[in-house]
Amino acid sequence: MLILRTREELNAWRANEPAVGFVPTMGALHQGHVSLVEESKRRGLTTISSVFVNPTQFNNASDLRAYPKDESGDIQKLEAAGCDAVFMPHHDEVYLKSTGEKSRYHHQFGALETVYEGAHRPGHFKGVGEVVHILFELVNPTVAFFGEKDYQQLLVIRKLVELIGSNTQIVGMPTVREADGLAMSSRNLRLTPLQRKHATLLHKSLEYARQNIDQAGREEVLQAVQRMFEEDEVMELEYIGLVKDGTVDDYEPGDGAKARGLISAYAGEIRLIDNLLLH
Ligand code: PAF
Repeated sequence: MLILRTREELNAWRANEPAVGFVPTMGALHQGHVSLVEESKRRGLTTISSVFVNPTQFNNASDLRAYPKDESGDIQKLEAAGCDAVFMPHHDEVYLKSTGEKSRYHHQFGALETVYEGAHRPGHFKGVGEVVHILFELVNPTVAFFGEKDYQQLLVIRKLVELIGSNTQIVGMPTVREADGLAMSSRNLRLTPLQRKHATLLHKSLEYARQNIDQAGREEVLQAVQRMFEEDEVMELEYIGLVKDGTVDDYEPGDGAKARGLISAYAGEIRLIDNLLLH
Protein backbone atom coordinates (compact mmCIF):
# COMPACT_ATOMS: atom_id res chain seq x y z
CA MET A 1 0.00 0.00 0.00
CA LEU A 2 1.30 3.40 -0.96
CA ILE A 3 1.50 6.07 1.71
CA LEU A 4 0.94 9.52 0.21
CA ARG A 5 1.68 12.59 2.28
CA THR A 6 1.49 15.52 -0.14
CA ARG A 7 -0.87 16.86 -2.78
CA GLU A 8 1.82 16.24 -5.40
CA GLU A 9 2.19 12.56 -4.43
CA LEU A 10 -1.60 12.16 -4.46
CA ASN A 11 -1.98 13.86 -7.87
CA ALA A 12 0.74 11.69 -9.40
CA TRP A 13 -0.94 8.53 -8.09
CA ARG A 14 -4.45 9.62 -9.13
CA ALA A 15 -3.34 10.52 -12.67
CA ASN A 16 -2.69 6.82 -13.37
CA GLU A 17 -5.99 5.49 -11.98
CA PRO A 18 -9.08 5.61 -14.20
CA ALA A 19 -11.55 5.02 -11.35
CA VAL A 20 -11.14 5.00 -7.58
CA GLY A 21 -13.11 4.14 -4.48
CA PHE A 22 -12.50 6.52 -1.57
CA VAL A 23 -12.85 5.96 2.18
CA PRO A 24 -12.22 9.22 4.07
CA THR A 25 -11.50 8.77 7.79
CA MET A 26 -10.05 10.50 10.82
CA GLY A 27 -7.98 7.45 11.75
CA ALA A 28 -8.11 5.26 14.88
CA LEU A 29 -9.61 2.77 12.49
CA HIS A 30 -11.93 -0.05 13.51
CA GLN A 31 -13.94 -2.74 11.74
CA GLY A 32 -16.52 -0.14 10.63
CA HIS A 33 -13.87 1.64 8.53
CA VAL A 34 -12.42 -1.66 7.34
CA SER A 35 -15.88 -2.73 6.07
CA LEU A 36 -15.93 0.40 3.85
CA VAL A 37 -12.54 -0.44 2.32
CA GLU A 38 -13.66 -4.05 1.83
CA GLU A 39 -16.84 -2.93 0.05
CA SER A 40 -14.83 -0.70 -2.27
CA LYS A 41 -12.50 -3.60 -3.09
CA ARG A 42 -15.47 -5.98 -3.52
CA ARG A 43 -16.71 -3.60 -6.22
CA GLY A 44 -13.39 -3.98 -8.00
CA LEU A 45 -12.29 -0.40 -7.34
CA THR A 46 -8.73 0.73 -6.80
CA THR A 47 -9.15 2.01 -3.27
CA ILE A 48 -7.69 4.95 -1.41
CA SER A 49 -8.40 5.95 2.18
CA SER A 50 -7.49 9.20 3.88
CA VAL A 51 -6.50 9.66 7.51
CA PHE A 52 -6.82 13.27 8.60
CA VAL A 53 -8.15 14.55 11.93
CA ASN A 54 -9.96 17.61 10.65
CA PRO A 55 -9.83 20.39 13.25
CA THR A 56 -12.57 22.50 11.63
CA GLN A 57 -15.26 19.94 12.45
CA PHE A 58 -14.54 19.83 16.20
CA ASN A 59 -16.70 22.28 18.12
CA ASN A 60 -14.97 21.23 21.33
CA ALA A 61 -11.19 21.74 21.72
CA SER A 62 -10.77 19.02 24.37
CA ASP A 63 -12.53 16.49 22.10
CA LEU A 64 -10.03 17.35 19.35
CA ARG A 65 -7.07 17.04 21.75
CA ALA A 66 -8.33 13.70 23.07
CA TYR A 67 -9.18 12.25 19.64
CA PRO A 68 -7.32 8.91 19.45
CA LYS A 69 -4.41 8.58 17.01
CA ASP A 70 -2.81 5.34 15.84
CA GLU A 71 -0.97 5.88 12.57
CA SER A 72 0.89 2.57 12.48
CA GLY A 73 -2.23 0.61 13.51
CA ASP A 74 -4.23 2.42 10.80
CA ILE A 75 -1.64 1.54 8.14
CA GLN A 76 -1.69 -2.11 9.19
CA LYS A 77 -5.49 -2.33 9.13
CA LEU A 78 -5.78 -0.64 5.73
CA GLU A 79 -3.08 -2.85 4.29
CA ALA A 80 -4.77 -5.99 5.65
CA ALA A 81 -8.09 -4.85 4.09
CA GLY A 82 -6.41 -4.60 0.68
CA CYS A 83 -6.40 -0.80 0.45
CA ASP A 84 -4.19 0.38 -2.42
CA ALA A 85 -3.15 3.78 -1.07
CA VAL A 86 -3.63 6.04 1.92
CA PHE A 87 -3.45 9.82 1.96
CA MET A 88 -2.04 10.95 5.33
CA PRO A 89 -1.54 14.67 4.91
CA HIS A 90 -0.18 17.28 7.28
CA HIS A 91 -2.70 19.98 8.22
CA ASP A 92 -1.15 22.58 5.88
CA GLU A 93 -1.39 20.18 2.97
CA VAL A 94 -5.19 20.13 3.30
CA TYR A 95 -5.70 23.75 4.36
CA LEU A 96 -3.22 25.58 2.17
CA LYS A 97 -1.79 28.62 3.94
CA SER A 98 -2.18 30.68 0.75
CA THR A 99 -5.97 30.18 0.65
CA GLY A 100 -6.44 30.80 4.37
CA GLU A 101 -7.44 28.21 6.92
CA LYS A 102 -10.91 29.54 7.60
CA SER A 103 -13.91 29.01 5.40
CA ARG A 104 -12.42 28.30 2.04
CA TYR A 105 -15.70 26.52 1.39
CA HIS A 106 -18.79 27.44 3.33
CA HIS A 107 -21.82 25.37 2.34
CA GLN A 108 -25.39 25.67 3.59
CA PHE A 109 -26.97 22.36 4.56
CA GLY A 110 -30.28 23.77 5.81
CA ALA A 111 -32.13 21.90 8.56
CA LEU A 112 -29.34 19.32 8.76
CA GLU A 113 -27.28 22.00 10.51
CA THR A 114 -29.92 23.02 13.04
CA VAL A 115 -31.34 19.79 14.50
CA TYR A 116 -29.88 16.80 16.40
CA GLU A 117 -26.14 16.69 15.57
CA GLY A 118 -26.36 20.09 13.89
CA ALA A 119 -27.93 21.68 16.99
CA HIS A 120 -25.60 20.03 19.49
CA ARG A 121 -22.37 20.50 17.51
CA PRO A 122 -22.57 24.02 16.07
CA GLY A 123 -20.31 24.40 13.04
CA HIS A 124 -19.59 20.67 12.88
CA PHE A 125 -21.22 20.07 9.50
CA LYS A 126 -19.67 23.23 8.06
CA GLY A 127 -16.28 21.69 8.91
CA VAL A 128 -17.24 18.27 7.52
CA GLY A 129 -18.58 19.85 4.32
CA GLU A 130 -15.44 21.92 3.91
CA VAL A 131 -12.94 19.09 4.39
CA VAL A 132 -14.88 16.57 2.32
CA HIS A 133 -15.15 19.13 -0.49
CA ILE A 134 -11.35 19.64 -0.39
CA LEU A 135 -10.68 15.88 -0.21
CA PHE A 136 -13.08 15.22 -3.10
CA GLU A 137 -11.27 17.85 -5.19
CA LEU A 138 -7.94 16.19 -4.42
CA VAL A 139 -8.97 12.54 -4.79
CA ASN A 140 -11.74 12.98 -7.40
CA PRO A 141 -13.35 9.71 -6.31
CA THR A 142 -15.60 7.69 -8.59
CA VAL A 143 -17.35 6.25 -5.54
CA ALA A 144 -17.00 7.33 -1.88
CA PHE A 145 -18.02 5.20 1.10
CA PHE A 146 -19.39 6.47 4.42
CA GLY A 147 -20.76 4.65 7.48
CA GLU A 148 -24.45 4.94 8.32
CA LYS A 149 -23.49 5.34 11.96
CA ASP A 150 -23.01 9.01 11.12
CA TYR A 151 -26.48 9.15 9.57
CA GLN A 152 -26.77 12.93 9.53
CA GLN A 153 -23.24 13.26 8.11
CA LEU A 154 -24.25 10.89 5.29
CA LEU A 155 -27.20 13.20 4.48
CA VAL A 156 -24.82 16.19 4.57
CA ILE A 157 -22.42 14.47 2.13
CA ARG A 158 -25.28 13.60 -0.24
CA LYS A 159 -26.35 17.26 -0.11
CA LEU A 160 -22.73 18.39 -0.64
CA VAL A 161 -22.32 16.44 -3.90
CA GLU A 162 -25.61 17.98 -5.08
CA LEU A 163 -24.44 21.50 -4.14
CA ILE A 164 -21.04 21.21 -5.81
CA GLY A 165 -22.31 19.23 -8.82
CA SER A 166 -19.93 16.34 -8.11
CA ASN A 167 -20.29 13.07 -10.05
CA THR A 168 -18.99 11.02 -7.14
CA GLN A 169 -21.40 8.24 -6.18
CA ILE A 170 -22.03 8.17 -2.43
CA VAL A 171 -22.50 4.77 -0.79
CA GLY A 172 -23.73 4.43 2.79
CA MET A 173 -22.73 1.24 4.56
CA PRO A 174 -24.41 -0.43 7.58
CA THR A 175 -23.15 0.32 11.08
CA VAL A 176 -20.78 -2.34 12.41
CA ARG A 177 -21.52 -3.30 16.01
CA GLU A 178 -19.76 -5.03 18.88
CA ALA A 179 -21.31 -8.34 20.01
CA ASP A 180 -23.39 -6.50 22.65
CA GLY A 181 -24.81 -4.01 20.13
CA LEU A 182 -22.54 -1.01 20.79
CA ALA A 183 -21.87 0.78 17.50
CA MET A 184 -18.15 0.74 16.68
CA SER A 185 -16.58 4.17 17.09
CA SER A 186 -13.06 5.50 17.53
CA ARG A 187 -14.36 7.21 20.69
CA ASN A 188 -15.14 3.81 22.30
CA LEU A 189 -11.38 3.50 22.92
CA ARG A 190 -11.69 6.22 25.56
CA LEU A 191 -14.44 4.53 27.60
CA THR A 192 -13.59 3.12 31.04
CA PRO A 193 -14.71 -0.51 31.57
CA LEU A 194 -17.76 0.74 33.54
CA GLN A 195 -18.68 3.29 30.86
CA ARG A 196 -18.17 0.67 28.16
CA LYS A 197 -20.66 -1.61 29.91
CA HIS A 198 -23.32 1.12 30.21
CA ALA A 199 -22.75 2.49 26.69
CA THR A 200 -24.89 -0.35 25.31
CA LEU A 201 -27.88 1.69 26.53
CA LEU A 202 -27.80 3.67 23.26
CA HIS A 203 -28.45 0.57 21.17
CA LYS A 204 -30.83 -0.94 23.75
CA SER A 205 -33.01 2.16 23.71
CA LEU A 206 -33.09 2.22 19.90
CA GLU A 207 -34.07 -1.45 19.96
CA TYR A 208 -36.81 -0.56 22.45
CA ALA A 209 -38.02 2.13 20.04
CA ARG A 210 -37.97 -0.36 17.17
CA GLN A 211 -40.11 -2.84 19.07
CA ASN A 212 -42.60 -0.29 20.44
CA ILE A 213 -42.95 2.61 18.01
CA ASP A 214 -46.00 1.35 16.19
CA GLN A 215 -48.06 0.25 19.20
CA ALA A 216 -46.93 2.79 21.79
CA GLY A 217 -46.69 5.92 19.61
CA ARG A 218 -44.10 8.66 19.26
CA GLU A 219 -44.35 10.56 22.58
CA GLU A 220 -44.57 7.42 24.69
CA VAL A 221 -41.41 5.99 23.11
CA LEU A 222 -39.49 9.26 23.53
CA GLN A 223 -40.50 9.47 27.19
CA ALA A 224 -39.70 5.81 27.85
CA VAL A 225 -36.18 6.28 26.44
CA GLN A 226 -35.69 9.39 28.59
CA ARG A 227 -36.70 7.34 31.66
CA MET A 228 -34.27 4.54 30.71
CA PHE A 229 -31.45 7.11 30.80
CA GLU A 230 -32.67 8.79 34.01
CA GLU A 231 -32.48 5.40 35.69
CA ASP A 232 -28.92 4.75 34.44
CA GLU A 233 -26.19 6.02 36.76
CA VAL A 234 -23.51 6.41 34.05
CA MET A 235 -25.07 7.53 30.76
CA GLU A 236 -26.56 10.96 30.17
CA LEU A 237 -28.99 11.38 27.26
CA GLU A 238 -28.39 14.35 24.97
CA TYR A 239 -31.17 13.71 22.45
CA ILE A 240 -33.44 10.99 21.16
CA GLY A 241 -35.21 11.57 17.86
CA LEU A 242 -37.63 9.65 15.67
CA VAL A 243 -37.33 10.80 12.07
CA LYS A 244 -38.55 9.77 8.64
CA ASP A 245 -35.74 7.72 7.14
CA GLY A 246 -33.58 9.73 4.75
CA THR A 247 -34.55 13.03 6.44
CA VAL A 248 -34.40 14.78 9.81
CA ASP A 249 -38.17 15.41 9.79
CA ASP A 250 -40.28 14.08 12.67
CA TYR A 251 -41.75 10.62 12.19
CA GLU A 252 -45.33 9.93 13.22
CA PRO A 253 -46.57 6.32 13.22
CA GLY A 254 -49.06 5.80 10.43
CA ASP A 255 -47.68 8.48 8.10
CA GLY A 256 -46.45 5.86 5.63
CA ALA A 257 -42.72 6.62 5.95
CA LYS A 258 -39.99 4.40 7.35
CA ALA A 259 -38.80 5.49 10.76
CA ARG A 260 -35.25 5.92 12.04
CA GLY A 261 -34.26 6.48 15.66
CA LEU A 262 -31.38 8.87 16.35
CA ILE A 263 -29.62 9.10 19.69
CA SER A 264 -26.73 10.85 21.35
CA ALA A 265 -25.53 10.39 24.93
CA TYR A 266 -22.54 11.10 27.15
CA ALA A 267 -20.50 8.65 29.19
CA GLY A 268 -18.60 11.17 31.34
CA GLU A 269 -16.97 13.48 28.78
CA ILE A 270 -17.25 11.03 25.92
CA ARG A 271 -20.03 11.69 23.48
CA LEU A 272 -21.49 8.73 21.61
CA ILE A 273 -24.08 8.62 18.82
CA ASP A 274 -26.07 5.86 17.20
CA ASN A 275 -29.12 5.37 14.97
CA LEU A 276 -31.32 2.50 13.83
CA LEU A 277 -33.83 1.90 11.08
CA LEU A 278 -36.98 1.03 13.06
CA HIS A 279 -38.93 -0.71 10.30
O1 PAF B 1 -16.58 10.52 9.48
C1 PAF B 1 -15.44 10.97 9.58
O2 PAF B 1 -14.50 10.28 9.99
C2 PAF B 1 -15.18 12.42 9.22
O3 PAF B 1 -16.24 13.23 9.57
C3 PAF B 1 -14.78 12.62 7.74
C4 PAF B 1 -15.92 12.25 6.81
C5 PAF B 1 -13.56 11.79 7.43
C6 PAF B 1 -14.45 14.10 7.51
O4 PAF B 1 -13.40 14.53 8.31
